[in-house]
Amino acid sequence: WRDEDGHLGEVVVSAERIAERVAELGKTITQDYQGLSPLLIGVLKGAFVFMTDLAREINLPVSVDFMAVSSYGDATKTSGVVRIIKDLDIDLVDRDVILVEDIIESGLTLRYLLHNLRSRNPRTLKVCTLLLKEGEQRELVTPDYVGFSIPREFVVGYGLDVAEKYRNLSYIARYRETL
Ligand code: PRP
Ligand code: MN
Ligand code: MG
Repeated sequence: WRDEDGHLGEVVVSAERIAERVAELGKTITQDYQGLSPLLIGVLKGAFVFMTDLAREINLPVSVDFMAVSSYGDATKTSGVVRIIKDLDIDLVDRDVILVEDIIESGLTLRYLLHNLRSRNPRTLKVCTLLLKEGEQRELVTPDYVGFSIPREFVVGYGLDVAEKYRNLSYIARYRETL
């Protein structure tokens, strides 16, 4: 992966550590949802890589759906306004829903989504995020499954972007805003 602009900083979570942790999360979810058919809801676009890997580590008949929201646009700071760009296809009534995120930063996106999904009457609703930014949450949100807690630096890769770039990196790296 060639970093032509030189913005890519050091590796924060390697591809190997991600794979290991995603497998662990999949195992835990498999145990927690024995006898059930959970519905995984991926939050596009960022969660698309994590979601595909996680789904294959869950040894249960899962369904998948996606919702697209955006609050960051091309910026590295949240706009504070969450917009739904694509809604779900599947009815949530009486389903065991697991919301899948790549990262929770301010918590605004998650708070908005939880409020929105709860109103559709799922049987249960839990949150699985690959990354949780330490000490950044302006909103009190407690994800049920967390891959890694990371320091308050802007990171990219494994689904996470800056201006739609870097999503296809197989690891998480620090993004250096100024060169
Ligand atoms: C990013 C990220 C999370 C959200 C986290 O999405 O993927 O969904 O921001 O930030 P928050 O906790 O401060 O709300 P973004 O809005 O950049 O859209 P994207 O997933 O399409 O990149
Ligand atoms: Mn996102
Ligand atoms: Mg983004």
